[in-house]
Amino acid sequence: MKRRGARIYCGTPKELSFLARRLRAGELVGVPTETVYGLAADAFNARACRKIFTAKGRPASDPLIVHLASARELKRVAIPNDAALRLAAAFWPGPLTLVLPKTSAVPDIVSSGLPSVAVRVSAHPLFRKLLRLTGRPLAAPSANPFGYVSPTTAGHVREGLGQKIRYILDGGPARIGLESTIVDVRDPRRPRLLRPGLVSHRELVRALGRPIARPRRPARAAAAQIAPGQLLRHYSPRTPVILHPRLADRATTGRARNEAWLFLRRPRHARGENIFWLDSKGELPGVARQLFSMLRRLDAASFAAIHVEAARGPGLAEAINDRLRRAAAR
Ligand code: TXA
Ligand code: MG
Repeated sequence: MKRRGARIYCGTPKELSFLARRLRAGELVGVPTETVYGLAADAFNARACRKIFTAKGRPASDPLIVHLASARELKRVAIPNDAALRLAAAFWPGPLTLVLPKTSAVPDIVSSGLPSVAVRVSAHPLFRKLLRLTGRPLAAPSANPFGYVSPTTAGHVREGLGQKIRYILDGGPARIGLESTIVDVRDPRRPRLLRPGLVSHRELVRALGRPIARPRRPARAAAAQIAPGQLLRHYSPRTPVILHPRLADRATTGRARNEAWLFLRRPRHARGENIFWLDSKGELPGVARQLFSMLRRLDAASFAAIHVEAARGPGLAEAINDRLRRAAAR
């Protein structure tokens, strides 16, 4: 049987209640968040959540993030502690995910059999409306085929999963463009940063008032049990990505023409059809916002390689470089 492609909804009140009913009936919906688009299912419905893994081609060992309409619902899915409540008060709604011991309401498929669950309250108004209408927590990983670049528009979701799902809610281009910061607070005395994001290590430490361990090197497969999504090769275009500490702003002549050169800021001298930049002034929020859609665009343009410049500095640069290292991993 031939499947119809996914349909994109722009979120009128009628459409939102329709999509909420589809979710309650156990179907999948592509949803906007401020970080990247997610592929959502009713988090209390194990069969619905299993469909997420099938649609993405995601291994069952890679757990999902559970999204709540508000922090007040935290107890439905997790067992909070003082560290979690403090971080939630400081950063929710927003791009921060907390790993906590889970309640029995969360099916094993969501947590990949782990006794913990990752939880987040998104700041995207349309997604939050959908969550309230659905009346259930929604499990959602990024809405891309497993291993590929995360989607930051409804169009990206359709390109990657359009033949596997039927419903996509369009909330515009993602405002942040990188996945949420993930912090493991299962033990409130020994919090650990698992994935860098817009909420930086420094901001987390300031809000919590205690030290937070840094991520383990992603190559360590041994860390797989606690951060299964931290596989080194991830977020990868098909075209080889080569990461440079800095790209010299010289004339195009001499640069391989069949290879793309991606600068953080608009270069002063380099020009040509293979020269690209992420933000005219190289400002990091703009770089983050454009990064994934640019990687997709360059991947589609059949260059032999993509050379890209690393960001410099702490904070958001750390999150950008984390994604670039993964995209460049062979
Ligand atoms: O911004 C985001 O976080 C987006 C939007 C949709 O919310 N979601 C997202 O999910 O990026 P994704 O594809 O990265 O998958 C969730 C990741 C897993 O790969 C894993 O690293 C982590 O969340 N995770 C989930 N449950 C976990 C757990 N119990 N312990 C440790 N890490 C967990
Ligand atoms: Mg993902």
